[in-house]
Amino acid sequence: MKIGICSDHAGIEYKTKLISYLLGKGYEVVNFGTDSADSCDYSDFAHPLASSIEDGSVDCGIAICGTGNGMAMTLNHHSGIRAGLAWNTAIAHLVKEHNNANVLVMPARFISYQMAVSCVREWLATDFAGGRHQRRIDKIPVK
Ligand code: RB5
Repeated sequence: MKIGICSDHAGIEYKTKLISYLLGKGYEVVNFGTDSADSCDYSDFAHPLASSIEDGSVDCGIAICGTGNGMAMTLNHHSGIRAGLAWNTAIAHLVKEHNNANVLVMPARFISYQMAVSCVREWLATDFAGGRHQRRIDKIPVK
């Protein structure tokens, strides 16, 4: 599986560590930046990640900023993206099982790195339940 990952300056430390973690687990990882701790704009990194999921060059994504909200808001402007914010493992599980999130978004300033790893592990290990949840996510796009 090929996983795209991006962050802004608030999330770069967790992103860097998560890349090593994911590579160690055998995943292919594509880093969409940022690559410095200098202040930057989350949308500059969220849009390329979203486009790469939409065109199939990566399978899914992880996005990290301070609160997670800027990343989630930007990513969810793309019709092929369901970006879900998670800050504990129960939500990371449900955001895949119920919402089939193809991007996991996390708030680096509000969770520990260990929690971020646990959320990633849970999200990757969980399958979408389908059924009534498929009907619900089918109603998300604005026609
Ligand atoms: C950066 O200071 C911060 O605004 C950003 O990481 C994020 O929290 C925005 O939603």
